Amino acid sequence: MIRTVTTTPYGDQKPGTSGLRKKVPVFQQKNYAENFIQSIFDALEGFAGQTLVIGGDGRFYNREVIQIAIKMAAANGFGRVLVGRGGILSTPAASNVIRKYEAFGGIVLSASHNPGGPTEDFGIKYNIGNGGPAPEKVTDAIYARSQVIDTYKISDVADVNLDAEGTQDIDGMTVTVIDPVSDYATLMESLFDFDAIRKLIAGGFRVVFDAMSAVTGPYAKEIIEKRLGAPKGSVMNFIPLPDFGGHHPDPNLVHARALYETMMAPDAPDFGAASDGDGDRNLVIGRGIFITPSDSLAMLAANAHLAPGYAKGLAGIARSMPTSGAADRVAEKLGIGLYETPTGWKFFGNLLDEGMATICGEESAGTGSNHVREKDGLWAVLLWLNILAVRKESALDIAAKHWATYGRNYYSRHDYEEVDSDAANGLVAALRDQLSTLPGKSFGALKVATADDFSYHDPVDHSVSKNQGIRILFEGGSRVVFRLSGTGTSGATLRVYIERFEPDPTRHDIDTQEALADLILVADEIAGIKTRTGRTEPSVIT
Ligand code: G1P
Ligand code: ZN
Repeated sequence: MIRTVTTTPYGDQKPGTSGLRKKVPVFQQKNYAENFIQSIFDALEGFAGQTLVIGGDGRFYNREVIQIAIKMAAANGFGRVLVGRGGILSTPAASNVIRKYEAFGGIVLSASHNPGGPTEDFGIKYNIGNGGPAPEKVTDAIYARSQVIDTYKISDVADVNLDAEGTQDIDGMTVTVIDPVSDYATLMESLFDFDAIRKLIAGGFRVVFDAMSAVTGPYAKEIIEKRLGAPKGSVMNFIPLPDFGGHHPDPNLVHARALYETMMAPDAPDFGAASDGDGDRNLVIGRGIFITPSDSLAMLAANAHLAPGYAKGLAGIARSMPTSGAADRVAEKLGIGLYETPTGWKFFGNLLDEGMATICGEESAGTGSNHVREKDGLWAVLLWLNILAVRKESALDIAAKHWATYGRNYYSRHDYEEVDSDAANGLVAALRDQLSTLPGKSFGALKVATADDFSYHDPVDHSVSKNQGIRILFEGGSRVVFRLSGTGTSGATLRVYIERFEPDPTRHDIDTQEALADLILVADEIAGIKTRTGRTEPSVIT
């Protein structure tokens, strides 16, 4: 039986960089999730009888919202729901299921790398039929609807059994519980030379993968241990937990510190990797070397042709604006297009759909390709393994040779988390005010070449996205970028992205923070970070 329930709007349901993210108690308010899900459906057209994919990263409140979403999909007239067993689908796996089964779209429940638990973060994101995050015109429509919503529709039925694969019927809609892993594992096997990787591993090459008690555990177990033959125990923390074991499931040098230490030890394994809460980010560490995500994008692009799925070469490379320019020189050498987009995976969708870009990446540990429309943590790890298997060199050697060929972009991001929102907005406003006067100014040896607030003109749909980050470019190719996070759930997070290009191979061995020291000081001088935020140090340096 379908019920129409009266509701009143919440003012704060504006999707950010990646869907609507709030603390769990916010989502637990009466009708909060229902309002947002109904707003999604109300913003869409033409889904009657069509398929909706539903899944999430298994965090606290995942199962509850999955039940709500299934019952609301039935009441709103979808023909079929595909849901991952246990309510689980990693973000890239959800993207794949949407594409493979030609679904109308999907609802992905995740707050990515943010902590989970009763007082931590939750999120709801809508993905369109190409498998990618809804573009801004859709998220704007969802938000607009959420501001005036007065009713939602839900089927009055018992909860669906999420733990057994199979099909059931709800008010005329079919719900199929699917294996969350198998379609994804098949896709990976179609892209990479599993035989070559199996041989590498059988020859004694040691891989460790930290699933961070998050969604990639079952995927990595199946692929790395079962299909590629890595010994049991190679995948660590493989059971997805609702609170990720109390940790931040963010694969960076702070939250995956233990893995980093392991990889820097004298008896380190050959290759270490990790993924985040919902499986779309990656951390890649070779023995004795952390590969920055920006470098990883460049190195993967330069070597992708070694994997069967990319043997024909790349159509183009896309990177978010704050990501370092390392990939730009690879694109130049390959004679292919390089696209610079705003932060957030949704901006890559058009370029991938149009066949303009094959590989995309963000400095925030996101790399992916046209195989799905999300970034994909395990994909990046497997492409690295494929390249290592073919080149038969260490990650350290591959990186050194890459820098010798292309030059090195020293790169770091400094995050100031939970800063007072007014202070953060004031800092950005003051930077904007300086944009016209900065060019030509010198700070020590650094002279500002240009300064702007990045705006993106989508070459496919011609939409324009303004105010995407303040860029200050110095002569010689160094730069600092400032922007406020669009994914945080308390206060503001200021991100400062610092980059220096070093063509000279004799200077490729410097500690990153040291190589960037003068730029770090100038960033503070121009933006007044310390005085405006009261912070003397970043909360996280990656
Ligand atoms: C952050 C990252 C961005 C990424 C997004 C979703 O967004 O910076 O690159 O696409 O998470 O994973 P931000 O918090 O900076 O808005
Ligand atoms: Zn994520």
